[in-house]
Amino acid sequence: MDKFYTTTAIDYVNGAPHIGHAYEKILTDVICRHFSQRTDNAYMLTGTDEHGIKIQKTSAQMNVSPKEFCDMNAQKFIDTWKLLDINYSQFIRTTDEQHTKTVQKIFKKLLEKGDIYKHSYTGLYCSGCEAFLSEKDLDEDGCCPNHKKKPEVVSEENYFFKLTKYKDKIIKHIKENPDFIVPSFRANEVLNQLENIEDISVSRAKTSVNWGISVLGDDSQVIYVWIDALSNYITALGYDTENPSEKFKKYWPADVQVIGKDILKFHSIYWLALLMALDLPLPKHILAHGWITIDETKMSKSLGNVVSPKSVMDSFNMTEPDAFRYYMAATAPCGKDGNYSDDDFKEKVNAHLANSMGNLLNRTLSMLVKYFNGEIKPEFIQENELFNKAKRTIEEVKHHFDYYEVSEASQKIIELVDILNKYVTDNAPWTLAKEEKMTQCGQVLYTVLECMCVIASLIYPYCPNIAKNMAKQLKYDISTKLDDIKLNNIKEGKLISKEEIFPVFLRLDSELATNKK
Ligand code: MSP
Repeated sequence: MDKFYTTTAIDYVNGAPHIGHAYEKILTDVICRHFSQRTDNAYMLTGTDEHGIKIQKTSAQMNVSPKEFCDMNAQKFIDTWKLLDINYSQFIRTTDEQHTKTVQKIFKKLLEKGDIYKHSYTGLYCSGCEAFLSEKDLDEDGCCPNHKKKPEVVSEENYFFKLTKYKDKIIKHIKENPDFIVPSFRANEVLNQLENIEDISVSRAKTSVNWGISVLGDDSQVIYVWIDALSNYITALGYDTENPSEKFKKYWPADVQVIGKDILKFHSIYWLALLMALDLPLPKHILAHGWITIDETKMSKSLGNVVSPKSVMDSFNMTEPDAFRYYMAATAPCGKDGNYSDDDFKEKVNAHLANSMGNLLNRTLSMLVKYFNGEIKPEFIQENELFNKAKRTIEEVKHHFDYYEVSEASQKIIELVDILNKYVTDNAPWTLAKEEKMTQCGQVLYTVLECMCVIASLIYPYCPNIAKNMAKQLKYDISTKLDDIKLNNIKEGKLISKEEIFPVFLRLDSELATNKK
């Protein structure tokens, strides 16, 4: 593997980030960090989607310019991703100058090619989706099923994109590449949607929407938000219609583009058609994740149950995001919906990260200090069948990540932790010490510590701070690539002193917060 390029959806900036947005960024960051353990060139893009009618209206209500409003809210996303240790390589904003100019060029190229044409049109526009809907898309009350609002009837002369020209090619691609859409059960949904597609409007009259990128040479129109937004995945890398950058050539096509299931249509139909029209290679995979609900209920402003990542961190007095990252990444099987509840969060992270994993390291190191003054003696160092189990776990985790099964991979790691805990219980090093079987006792401790190095590496994408703190106490290089882990990290001699031992994760025992904002 010589590079890995992954992207997230770019978030609308008309609100503040909530744990649904956070889920996607965490998932993508965990994937990217895992692949950074397999290649030196792992690159993650995220950002914000800043144009469109919603921003125009909300900023007007607040009496600020749309750009001021975007600056203020984009910062909230940047701050939140920092809080969650999202290690993105680049943050793109669709108001960035380079993005704006490239989108104009893309539009011009497609116009010249004949894939974009002008047409008068009357349609139903949902500002929540920033999309035209057909009658078939609406629920029994004539409302958008996602936003529960009646769409506006819009009559305009717009530019249209010849989506239908690419229909057969897209169908062929999806059928011939059954793992293109992850999880594959969603492919049928897309194939059904493809049956009824029509050409799509790709601009709006400035009289209706003026907060957007102008069409070059036609100042009366702005480019439709989804064309603007989808292009971010290539403009960020320096794509240019005439002279693409080295970075673009290095990273494109994306290995996996992570999005929510609600916007799969845009990514597996519109985006593919756009790339085909530009004669560009297609992304290797689209990962459509499920929804995060709160206490099994959809988050919504009207229900007042929108939870921000910061409020979770604050209510549990967390200074590091590892537990939240772990919980979010582990909560839902690949592509399925997941739920957040304070109780479940607290219970799972206390059980997995504190009681099973953290405690195992802590008590093993403490016994090494108690019985051997923190020293590994040469006779402790020997192969153990658990090393094979640890090596197999590395392969299983890699295999799950090859299919972007982030939650499933985390289960394999915890399984290994459980096996190690059972090994300690079964071999009772404290009894061996009492019976003065010191070599056997030391061998048990050594075996666990060696396997803990593997755990540190495997848990790193989920819990980077915990992993670093584990590695620090194990004198293990956490930047070791997965294929270079040899299970011979713990060397003979003094490993640790009493003062150097500290818990890598403290139980979350604060009272549950009652007033989440
Ligand atoms: N701006 C568009 C995406 C353009 S990508 C070229 C958009 N923005 S969004 O802010 O509404 O959503 C951003 C991402 O967050 C989407 O992938 C969406 O599915 C995801 N989520 C928003 N709410 C969510 C949950 N409650 N749960 C999980 N993900 C959710 O769509």
